[in-house]
Amino acid sequence: MAMDITGLSASEKITLFSAWGLIRKDLDVHGRNMLLLLFHKYPHYVSYFDFTDDPTAQSLVDNKSLFSQSIHVIKAFGSLIEYGLKDPALFNETLKKITRFHEHRNVYSKDILTIGEVLLDYLAQVLGRQVSDSLPDAFRKLFATIASRFPAAPDVDTDEKDANITQLEDASQHQ
Ligand code: HEM
Repeated sequence: MAMDITGLSASEKITLFSAWGLIRKDLDVHGRNMLLLLFHKYPHYVSYFDFTDDPTAQSLVDNKSLFSQSIHVIKAFGSLIEYGLKDPALFNETLKKITRFHEHRNVYSKDILTIGEVLLDYLAQVLGRQVSDSLPDAFRKLFATIASRFPAAPDVDTDEKDANITQLEDASQHQ
């Protein structure tokens, strides 16, 4: 089947578009819930963000800075679906911008796939039986496309492995 830069087939686009239609009217609430679910499942991500703009908040749940940022995040994601799926060149530009927002913030492909799974989980919870059987696959494909535009995480083991190899080489030279 012919595929464009989105990596999605026509029927996958329709699936995503329909699911999006179900959450778009309460986007502020869903956007915040999704970010809170991400932090609940992966607490270390909280430290990536700065929510100190709201100094009065007692918790993340009532932090207006978190709320405000979650609206930007969900709107950016939504525009990929709402406008981008119909116009691959626009999808590409929107994705460039999203990628640029995350430069120097240690956000890698694997983090995008992680947030994708969290959002999918959230959608299954709130939409229940309204979610079509084809949603998970289409959703994961969209996140694979987004993730492909982010850098791979640096391999933290590399230095250690290199050191071990050097030691092995040294040892063999001394035999
Ligand atoms: C499809 C997935 C994602 C989309 C569409 C997205 C979108 C955005 C947008 C639009 C902003 C700018 C927000 C603003 O100016 O208020 C932003 C900022 C940011 N995003 Fe994402 N994001 C995604 C995934 C992630 C992931 C997985 C992480 C890692 C945990 C992450 C971490 C951040 C951070 C740390 C900022 C900067 C917030 C700040 O200004 O302090 N994002 N993102």
